[in-house]
Amino acid sequence: MRVAMIGTGYVGLVSGACFADFGHHVTCIDKNQEKIDLLRSGGVPIYEPGLDLLVQRNIREGRLDFATDLTEAVREADVVFIAVGTPSRRGDGHADLSYVYAAAEEIAGVMEGYTVVVTKSTVPVGTGDEVESIIRKARPDGAFAVVSNPEFLREGAAIDDFKRPDRVVVGAQEPKARDVMRELYRPLFLNETPIVFTERRTSELIKYAANAFLAMKITFINEIADLCEAVGANVQEVSKGIGLDGRIGAKFLHAGPGYGGSCFPKDTLALVKTAELYDSPLRLVSATVEVNAARKKAMADKIIAASGGSVDGKTIAVLGLTFKPNTDDMRDAPSLDIIPALQKAGARVKAYDPAGIEEAEKLLSDVEFVTGPYLAMEGADALVIITEWNEFRALDTDRIKASLSDPLIIDLRNIYDPAEMAGEGFRYVSVGRP
Ligand code: UDX
Repeated sequence: MRVAMIGTGYVGLVSGACFADFGHHVTCIDKNQEKIDLLRSGGVPIYEPGLDLLVQRNIREGRLDFATDLTEAVREADVVFIAVGTPSRRGDGHADLSYVYAAAEEIAGVMEGYTVVVTKSTVPVGTGDEVESIIRKARPDGAFAVVSNPEFLREGAAIDDFKRPDRVVVGAQEPKARDVMRELYRPLFLNETPIVFTERRTSELIKYAANAFLAMKITFINEIADLCEAVGANVQEVSKGIGLDGRIGAKFLHAGPGYGGSCFPKDTLALVKTAELYDSPLRLVSATVEVNAARKKAMADKIIAASGGSVDGKTIAVLGLTFKPNTDDMRDAPSLDIIPALQKAGARVKAYDPAGIEEAEKLLSDVEFVTGPYLAMEGADALVIITEWNEFRALDTDRIKASLSDPLIIDLRNIYDPAEMAGEGFRYVSVGRP
């Protein structure tokens, strides 16, 4: 099949490369010439393990190419994906759909033959209807269907998530469009991946409901972690104890400094806005948004309290800046709340991250960025772990002790054992554990 993928962000690029790997012919389109030049030369503009090799292999084998103009690719395509950004609209938190609608206009101008137009971007309920009416207006006799096919991939594990998803969700009314989508995803059905066909609006809502539920689950365990601290219980054991209940499930029950990233913060907010618009409030999701925002800020107070009530004039070593490991993405990362709050309280911050420093430099000021974990600790009064990169999981404790001027570790991801750390002579503070 021939696929046109509009937008080469995380979702567009990963989906495009994976569809090419399934054997389809894919053209990825982006207006940014520099990005397209880079991709054509086999480079990848985002940090995603394995994506460069996947892109290079599929270019070499002639199934993947790139363009700044969508005309030719859309004209020839059986399926056109809209995978452009839907950022939070400044001021009101609604999803900004201007890129989606602009793409629909452009597709309408050039499509030929029966074309399935698929929204892969996360879009509020009813967006597919609007996309359909934009195209219909421009092409009253056009043969096309508008389908919703949300993407559930996680940054850092995107290729695996795309190729081995728990399910594929397709919101399509027309049987013909469903057949095209079934054919597109055929390699996954051979692995018995469930495909859930729904009405379009339902599919649009499934994506938001999934993200909101996961954000709520994390926020729930974060609040339980606070309670654990207050009553002297252990949140990791609580997570295990409840997660073994099949109805609850063990995943997304890791307490930490609050969720960040490109999806949960923006999508929970957009869902709350949709609910308000339809006068059907989602109080649990609203509370999740509030509790998570407050939590990120509260983490600085936790660090200050652990430092004896003040960080004024002290040097704090920070390990991990990105919103989670295996990405260079800094969007809504807890570090962006924690570090400025520490600085405001008088601390000097030295920081290391395996992939996020280039992005972090644009967003944080007066931080001394260093090239390795022990360099951050050199002469610091405390070590704070914000993101659980694998390389922080087995640090040399003797070297930490020799580097820090005070053996204090605040671990916001619970990657060390409290008893062992105490045994090593550290004052060790973690999340929700005695
Ligand atoms: C998320 C969804 O998982 C994915 O399905 C959707 O398509 C996009 O949004 P992503 O943002 O890449 O993916 O990361 P994810 O692994 O879900 O983590 C999101 C945030 O939650 C991170 O800040 C992470 O640190 C935090 N988190 C996750 C926790 O604090 N605890 C957990 O148990 C899990």
